[in-house]
Amino acid sequence: MSKKVLAVYFTQSGQLGEIVDNLTKPLIEAGISVEKVQVSPVKKFPFPWTTKVFFEAMPESVQCTPADLEAFQLKENKYDLIILGIQPWFLSPSIPMSSFIQHPSFKAIAVNTPIVTISGCRNMWINAQEKIKRLLKQSGANLVGNIALVDRHNNYASLVTIFYWMLTGRKDRKWGIFPKPGVSDEDIANVPVFGNTVKDHLLSGDWINLQPRLVEQKAVDVKYHLMFIERKAGKIFKIWANIITKKKKRSGWLVAFKYYLLIALCVAAPLILLVDAVLFRPFLSGRIARQKKYYSGVELI
Ligand SMILES: Cc1cc2nc3c(=O)[nH]c(=O)nc-3n(C[C@H](O)[C@H](O)[C@H](O)COP(=O)(O)O)c2cc1C
Repeated sequence: MSKKVLAVYFTQSGQLGEIVDNLTKPLIEAGISVEKVQVSPVKKFPFPWTTKVFFEAMPESVQCTPADLEAFQLKENKYDLIILGIQPWFLSPSIPMSSFIQHPSFKAIAVNTPIVTISGCRNMWINAQEKIKRLLKQSGANLVGNIALVDRHNNYASLVTIFYWMLTGRKDRKWGIFPKPGVSDEDIANVPVFGNTVKDHLLSGDWINLQPRLVEQKAVDVKYHLMFIERKAGKIFKIWANIITKKKKRSGWLVAFKYYLLIALCVAAPLILLVDAVLFRPFLSGRIARQKKYYSGVELI
């Protein structure tokens, strides 16, 4: 009997939609039934964003607070594989996708079901993936694969270009000088390679070796300096989110968070990385290698 696959995603610009289409293409070509569902929150997030609304999404993203979703219908009550297209928002799964993962209809079909996650982000997905691992575990789902597509340009260039893209809706080169924002066209075009791997493992039923194969194919690539920043920033974002959600008037606090973020990323992070490079990193190579291996995998500790 033909395998049944569900692919669920949310996208504003269309980027993650294209990525999910390219991932599922080899499965569809092999005659596998692929049902695609696009998640739609009742309260829409604007695209392009305004700066104010962009930062307003921070506390609920970080706390994984579920939002109401438009009604959706799933054709089956059991799938051989569920693919989740999840973009990080503020180092956490985007509100629409974290709402989907916590939705009773997803939880009902997720138990003991193999899950492959795929993201298309700026470059910081580790923290969001850890939250996704935890949410999936709570649902009794079986995470078997993860693919993380990033903007490979310099961290500071991509910081400028992501804001340009998110605030104008234009995925082109700011002033004709900066690189194009988001995941590159080449990397999006390469996604069927991972789709083929997922297809082979779906057909063979060998889920254990899927992630090691995807890692070999560079479907995830953990960069030390980004991992270092994310591990620290994830904890600090949580503190900000806890403070802000308790405030009746949030707007001043959100403006303060915006400036904190800019200073943290552009001033504090390079200094801390410099100190780390001199005093700690040279002596921690074993620990760093273990951390990179862990974040490249699908296990949860
Ligand atoms: C509110 C918001 C927060 C974001 N936070 C992150 C982040 O923490 N890490 C990251 O790598 N990308 C981040 N991004 C970029 C998204 O993950 C994603 O790449 C971009 O929104 C395009 O996705 P789309 O397919 O929904 O258009 C953020 C985007 C938005 C809108």
